[in-house]
Amino acid sequence: MSNSIYNKLVNKETTIAVIGLGYVGLPIALEFARKIKVVGFDINAERVELMKKNIDPSNELDASEFEGCDITFTANIDDLKEATFFVVAVPTPIDDSNLPNLKPLLSATGTVAKVLKKGDYVVFESTVYPGCTEEDCVPVLEEISGLKFREDFKIGYSPERINPGDKEHTLQNVIKVVSGCCDESLEEIAKTYELVVGAGVHRATSLKVAEAAKIIENTQRDVNIALINELSIIFNKLNINTFDVLEAAGTKWNFLKFSPGLVGGHCIGVDPYYLTHKAQQAGYHSKVITSGRYVNDSMGFYIGKQTVKKILAKGKHIQDARVLVMGATFKEDVSDIRNSKVIDIINELKSFQVKVDLVDPHASSTEMEHEYGVGLVANPTNNYDAIIVAVNHREYQKLTEADFENMMKDDKGVFVDVKGIFKGKINRLEYWSL
Ligand SMILES: NC(=O)c1ccc[n+]([C@@H]2O[C@H](COP(=O)([O-])OP(=O)(O)OC[C@H]3O[C@@H](n4cnc5c(N)ncnc54)[C@H](O)[C@@H]3O)[C@@H](O)[C@H]2O)c1
Repeated sequence: MSNSIYNKLVNKETTIAVIGLGYVGLPIALEFARKIKVVGFDINAERVELMKKNIDPSNELDASEFEGCDITFTANIDDLKEATFFVVAVPTPIDDSNLPNLKPLLSATGTVAKVLKKGDYVVFESTVYPGCTEEDCVPVLEEISGLKFREDFKIGYSPERINPGDKEHTLQNVIKVVSGCCDESLEEIAKTYELVVGAGVHRATSLKVAEAAKIIENTQRDVNIALINELSIIFNKLNINTFDVLEAAGTKWNFLKFSPGLVGGHCIGVDPYYLTHKAQQAGYHSKVITSGRYVNDSMGFYIGKQTVKKILAKGKHIQDARVLVMGATFKEDVSDIRNSKVIDIINELKSFQVKVDLVDPHASSTEMEHEYGVGLVANPTNNYDAIIVAVNHREYQKLTEADFENMMKDDKGVFVDVKGIFKGKINRLEYWSL
């Protein structure tokens, strides 16, 4: 047991390196750094400079969470040489054709491979399809390092369940799935993660099982939301309020509680494509998962169209209409705008020549402009024909009907409440929700 990598880490005889310090990597790096020596590596030197000043570039962690941490932030690969246990947490996005884009993952794997030594461990945290770690990452590690998998180095896979903006389900209090390439590595990796995950770890029976577990957590959520989104389209046609139906059905013990809405971000709306890609390679064309993706990806356009219909029904010329969209991020109370589906609402409105203003207390106007070509307005006016509350930010929940009325052009204002948070509170404006 003296050779145990876990013992060496705990005795600070060696270092753990976290590669990729974003929403996932930084919290895990800081958590480890309260117990063991950590090198935090990121290719983005600007982000590294911020972290050196105890600033989280993702706006999730306070400066106080950097205190008492034994961590060196770096963008220099030489600083990785002292590490023997590597954790890779880089993005796994999709490309324009919704296919997995493994470039960041394989590039980070290549970085690790350049400094890999005999006896080292590499644990992947990035969300991937089952088999990716062994089939795509291991060959890169072997080829660049010249070392042999299992004989010279070990690998593991431990998916992340972190939920940005959620202060209740944290890294420490949610069970973490871990896996290894053999019994010994599983135990070493499990013990290392047990240092920081108070809720404990679940030892998965293989790397592929751990990879699959993560991907189905998000796929299940995506498909369930898609069903509710489809139901909301049906109920809209039948003039039934979806949230009333969900409230009634939710009184049954086994009715699953999902609500309709936009499915954006870089997890739920992306991960299912990793699974369908792998399924296709294995000769199976997924139907349920891809249908769910189709429905969820259509919701922004659907909301835009419904808003246009409501404005027209008020006897207005749509080309003269002005709409305020409140909320740009992919979910409430975060600043992340990547893969936000709010842009679909805006594009649909603009396709009808509607003039759109966008506000968001959390998002950066520069980033919105850069990513989508749509900036934020600093101060909304008071000449809107419709207001769409697209994201359930805490700042919006405090607003009243009078606040919205004050921003409308006239008394024919349309109020679109995507998440149904103002249900029962809007009586004078024309109210519509999913
Ligand atoms: N954000 C979440 O809520 C969440 C939850 C669970 C799992 N995941 C998964 O975790 C992984 C990471 O996601 P994230 O949200 O932390 O991403 P992120 O974009 O917030 O951060 C990724 C970081 O990796 C860095 N990076 C990119 N390429 C690199 C490379 N080659 N070498 C070193 N650093 C590199 C980037 O500069 C960035 O700082 C993804 O696979 C994601 O699907 C994310």
